[in-house]
Formats: sequence, C-alpha cells, structure tokens
Amino acid sequence: MLSLMQDEAWALSTLSPGGVLLTELTGVVPSELERAFWRLYRDFFDRAEKKRRWSLRDDIPWDQCNPDVDPAIADVVESFCAVELYLPDYTSKILPVVRPSRGRTWFYANWGYEESKHSLALGDWLLASGSRTDEQMTDLENMVFEREWNLPHDSQLGMLVYAMTQELATFLAYRNLRQRLEERGDDPALNKLLRLVSVDERAHYDFFRQGVSLFLQHDRDETLEQMRRVMHNFAMPAINELAEGRRRVAAVNALEIMSEDIYYRDVYLPILAELDVDRAEMRSRIPVRKSAPTA
Ligand SMILES: [Fe+2]
Ligand SMILES: [Fe+2]
Repeated sequence: MLSLMQDEAWALSTLSPGGVLLTELTGVVPSELERAFWRLYRDFFDRAEKKRRWSLRDDIPWDQCNPDVDPAIADVVESFCAVELYLPDYTSKILPVVRPSRGRTWFYANWGYEESKHSLALGDWLLASGSRTDEQMTDLENMVFEREWNLPHDSQLGMLVYAMTQELATFLAYRNLRQRLEERGDDPALNKLLRLVSVDERAHYDFFRQGVSLFLQHDRDETLEQMRRVMHNFAMPAINELAEGRRRVAAVNALEIMSEDIYYRDVYLPILAELDVDRAEMRSRIPVRKSAPTA
C-alpha cells in the first residue's frame, strides 16, 4: 500500500506544473529508492551497534585532562560545542521534510542520539579541563537558544547534499583540531574524545554520500543541480549566527582547522571523486530554482 502511494506520488511529480517536483517538497521518493535507503540505514545501524558505540563516562580518560591546554584550542572546542547544541533545531526542522522516508527518519533518530553525545562530551571536557566554568557554560547554552537555526535549503534533495557536505567538513574539522592539539601539548581526554566524535562524523558522511549516490543513479541532472546549488555556496551550520560568529570563524581559520582552501581541497574535490562526478559536470548551467540562503 505504501509502495503504491509512493509510486503514485512520483508519477504525479512528473506532471506537476512549473517544473517543481512534488517529491522535492514532500520528501516522498519512489519505492525502489526508498527500499535502497532502508537497506543503507540497516547497514549503518548494524555497523554502529557492532563497531562504533562508545561510552561518554567510561571511554574517555577524564582524569587525564590537561589543565594547561592552549586557550585557543579551548575556544574552538567551545565554538564546536555551540554548533552541536543546535541539535533541537537540526532534528525538529529536518524530520517533517523527510517524514515519508522511513530510511531517513529512522536514520535521523539514531543520528540525533549520536550528535547529542557530541555536545555532552565537548561540554563535559570544557568543564573538566577547567577551561570554562558552570556559569560560562550556562551563558553559552543561553546564547545558542536565543537564535533559531533554519534549514539552509528548501528541498529534501538539497538538504541531503548539504548534510553530506557538512558531515565531511565536520569530520575534517575534528580531525584537524586533534592534530593542532597534538602539536600544542596534547590532552589525552580531549584527544580520545575528538577521535571518537570524528569517527561518528565520518560514518554520518558515508551514509549521506551513499544516499546522494542513489539519487545520482536515479536522476543525475536534478541531483547535479542540487550539488551545484549547495556545494558552491557551502557554509558550516550555525557558527556564523552565534554571538561573535566572525571571531569564532576567524579562530577556526587561524588554526587551519577549516577554511575555504581546506573546504575545496579536502571536502569538495574528494566528494566529487567518491561520487564519480566530473568537475565539468559541476560547471554546466541549467536554470536554478529559488533557494533559501545558506546558513
Ligand atoms: Fe557531531
Ligand atoms: Fe554528524
């Protein structure tokens, strides 16, 4: 029954006026594609249960925090913690968009659990290392909840491409932060934490990349259009919207954790290579539909 409804929605989408795919607005995908998404999710979940679960309490050597850690490192940890604290907006805004897809809604339920651990771990480290006080952490939480984060793209496919790009950029940001930490005296607790978090981010990227690959097989032109719209105007979520957002971004750039050059070299080009998309395909122009501005 569900399959039939999805097939009908897909058939309708090809008839919709103005070239706007109904599937773009509702997130309904053809049943064949949806079955493939469900398999992706089950693989993701089984692997996560077997290889990737970690304990916030037991797997991080909290007694080995370095009280002399470089304040510049702690500042970036605070910024990343703030970005992770937008979780209620990330989950509450994306779920209605992908609601017709069980593979994607179940994924986001699991993803929300993993992301919630990231903000807890970063916040716990800021306190345990003495880098921030309870009062400063309360101020940080209040600053985050003063502003609402909104989806940077207006279609489920645009958001899928955005999530793929953002997760790889986030993986690299945590990996690069860990390298800077090692160069500046290290902290065994933060080092282990960053390793665990970056492995999660890489797994999130792999799921979304495989999802984009399914859409490329299904409708290459439309998927390429979304890739151009999203990847040529990419910005990390929420960080610019924080108080002192410019200063926070500049601090991330100064430590060479993320920058436009790093994005192009370590995010943009590797994604094209992994998806087997030629750079020339990313240059070709077809009419671009209206999109919300990127975050
Ligand atoms: Fe995260
Ligand atoms: Fe993630």
